[in-house]
Amino acid sequence: MKYSSIIRFIIVVGIAAILLMTVSCNRTENSPGWVYMPDMNYSRTYETYSKNPNFSDSLTMQAPVKGTIPREMIPYSYGRTFDEQVKAGKELVNPLPVTTENLQRGKIQYEIFCSNCHGMAGKGDGYLFTSGLFIAKPFDLTSDIVQAKPIGEIFHVTTVGSVSGLMGAHGSQINQADRWKIAMYVKNKLSTNL
Ligand code: HEC
Repeated sequence: MKYSSIIRFIIVVGIAAILLMTVSCNRTENSPGWVYMPDMNYSRTYETYSKNPNFSDSLTMQAPVKGTIPREMIPYSYGRTFDEQVKAGKELVNPLPVTTENLQRGKIQYEIFCSNCHGMAGKGDGYLFTSGLFIAKPFDLTSDIVQAKPIGEIFHVTTVGSVSGLMGAHGSQINQADRWKIAMYVKNKLSTNL
């Protein structure tokens, strides 16, 4: 091949390559354009929230079977009635040791979740009550009436709320270990001294 025809060949192939690269670009960023051998790039499954003709309610995401619990969750079997509260108090045993470390963790969690109603010192004078935003008087947690309750009962109230419903359940917001630590802290009259 002559030298000039080699040059011409390179130029033609070069231009063809540039053209190919230009047309293979796509202005819509969400589209990958043409794909050579897509293999398993594209899922053929139904998207979670898409319609699904295979189920009678046409939903892809089906509700879990009744009674299903998430991994590591321990179902709580005591209801929010007075009898159940007393029963929980008699039966539940604090699985954690009462240490300064656990009390300090309880204090932190208490201050986050409970002090807004019960007050920093537990006297029932938290901001939500003193400001009038929340009208029900929260219990004084240092009072004899609360202190006389078994620790399991405090854990129970924290988990499901008070019988009247004035105090809400915290079982879904605070994990089990932390609820025990809060109960420990309350039983210790909100003191981290042992
Ligand atoms: C929204 C305000 C509010 C928050 C937040 C709150 N409480 Fe209460 N709590 C109350 C009220 C009000 C009562 C009185 C209950 C009643 O009259 O039903 C009460 C009662 C209690 C009692 C006594 C229940 C009984 O029946 O003997 C305990 C123990 C208690 N709370 C602990 C806690 C702990 C621990 C937290 C944090 C995890 C907490 N509370 C968060 C408002 C609150």
